Amino acid sequence: MKLLIVANWKMNPQTLREAEQLFDLVKKGVKNIKKAEVVICSPFVFLSNIPARLRVAEGKSGRQHLKSNIKLGAQDVFREKEGAYTGEISSLMLKDVGCQYVIVGHSERRGYFGETNEMINKKLKAVLEEKLNPILCIGETQQQRDKGETDQILKKQIKTALKKVSSSKFSKITIAYEPIWAIGTGEPCNVEEAQKIGLLIRKIISGIYNRSVSKNLRILYGGSVNSKNAAGYIKEAGLQGLLVGGASLKAKEFVKIVKTVI
Ligand code: PGA
Repeated sequence: MKLLIVANWKMNPQTLREAEQLFDLVKKGVKNIKKAEVVICSPFVFLSNIPARLRVAEGKSGRQHLKSNIKLGAQDVFREKEGAYTGEISSLMLKDVGCQYVIVGHSERRGYFGETNEMINKKLKAVLEEKLNPILCIGETQQQRDKGETDQILKKQIKTALKKVSSSKFSKITIAYEPIWAIGTGEPCNVEEAQKIGLLIRKIISGIYNRSVSKNLRILYGGSVNSKNAAGYIKEAGLQGLLVGGASLKAKEFVKIVKTVI
């Protein structure tokens, strides 16, 4: 199973020029890496420019970018296929510009935009409908953690998000454990806890589907990941990848993260 290292640029950078520069530096840095898939989740507006850069840089035409070890991802999507939904973006639009991954249910979407587990279930199904790969984010707040509710919160998030998702469709899904208290705080989850949650997620998936489905799942950790703590989640906690926010905006640091985990 290849590792999956995801850059979540969030609402950054502010110009296409900067986005292209950042992308080019990362592309160059991870060029010879075979053991990990690197996914760049850029803001929607830059998505259609980036695949073109992959093609130009490789001097090839057509859908050559699909073979690169860098894949494109989106940070969100709308649940419907098309129609009068001002401001929204469909899965097919994402697929058409070359996206292969879509983050669904990020805690910032849940927190700032009121996304519920039910809404996330619809988005997930919309992504699967276009045969794209959803990255489902789950995680508890500091308060829930303090009250000892972590396990039950994660179970609810997973179960509702996966309602009516068949086991064959589930094979396209990656789950990212992103404790809200660790996101952007500089206080990452420790390795033992991440490992424990990884096992819990596998157990929940095993209960919904079966052991072999659960075994094939890639579980990522996200929340204040940097080049110093990254390797622990893979090499000690035994997870299959990372979701990197702040540190993914610095090309050198992000490339270092990828290199330390492979
Ligand atoms: P962070 O963000 O790495 O800046 O903590 C992670 C995320 O929100 O995906």
